[in-house]
Amino acid sequence: MTTAAGPTGPPVAPSLETLRAQRDLTDTVVFVSGAGSGIGRATARVCAALGARVVATDRDQDAVQATADGIADEGASCVGWALDVTDVEAIERVVARVRAEVGAIDVLVNNAGVSLPSPVTNSSSVDEGFDHAWSLTFDINLHAHTRLVRACLPDLERRDGDGRCRGRIINVASTEGLGATPGLSAYTASKHAVIGFTKALAVELGARGVTANAVCPGPVDTGMTAAIPEAARAKYLRRRVPMVRYAQPEELAQVIASIALPASSFLNGATVVVDGGLTVKNA
Ligand code: NAI
Repeated sequence: MTTAAGPTGPPVAPSLETLRAQRDLTDTVVFVSGAGSGIGRATARVCAALGARVVATDRDQDAVQATADGIADEGASCVGWALDVTDVEAIERVVARVRAEVGAIDVLVNNAGVSLPSPVTNSSSVDEGFDHAWSLTFDINLHAHTRLVRACLPDLERRDGDGRCRGRIINVASTEGLGATPGLSAYTASKHAVIGFTKALAVELGARGVTANAVCPGPVDTGMTAAIPEAARAKYLRRRVPMVRYAQPEELAQVIASIALPASSFLNGATVVVDGGLTVKNA
């Protein structure tokens, strides 16, 4: 947030109208990957509710079309386009289409992710299943982030007439990027890497005005967690989560949308934990 210099010296505080406008996404183009479900779909909805022009993408064409249709039915702006983030050429194609049909991208939300079992203990050194889980996990959870950032960068770093840059990169990591759960070696390593990549972006792009931040959800009620049996959920929540519940996807989406706001202009390189207190609980 900038304060204009007064004619004789001390900066003049922004007007209340300016402060309010900084909490609005009108005319901001927000690109979300993995927006056919869960946190991605909710992020598309919250950003659209705040006035953004949303580009929802997902490898599941029907699901992302349903996201866009739902938003359009409520009178806000969203297109829903197929994009498998492991397809390098498709990334270039879709980003070019966004530029041509929606506008230059202001906010990139790297959300698409998978969690595949990858227990180290059950594997021999030659185990195709284990290797496949690792390479697919890293392709979707990390490499796609790097590709999307590079494809969107010319848009993200452009400046308006006042010299301001609106570019934001928001990477969805996980509390598995801060600690570890047995059996999820590939997922855990990929999410630690997402946090590291976010910090690298923050220091490399900060001088250009583009910010990069990571959001770390704890347990969220989405497709990713739907198959966990009720008894296992309840036990985990009692033992580990002070708020004793899963988050709803909108509770993550609201935080992601807040980072996208013009108001959050000096937040850079942060790891924003949204976990109901999971990671601060000792006993
Ligand atoms: P979800 O399974 O409901 O949604 C993930 C979406 O990503 C799906 O629509 C899926 O089609 C899409 N997707 C998967 N692979 C893709 C690919 N190759 N290309 C394009 N789209 C692809 O899961 P959720 O929970 O909404 O996950 C979103 C993000 O949140 C992920 O990065 C996940 O790791 C992270 N997260 C989720 C937590 C949870 O408890 N649900 C906890 C911590 C992090």
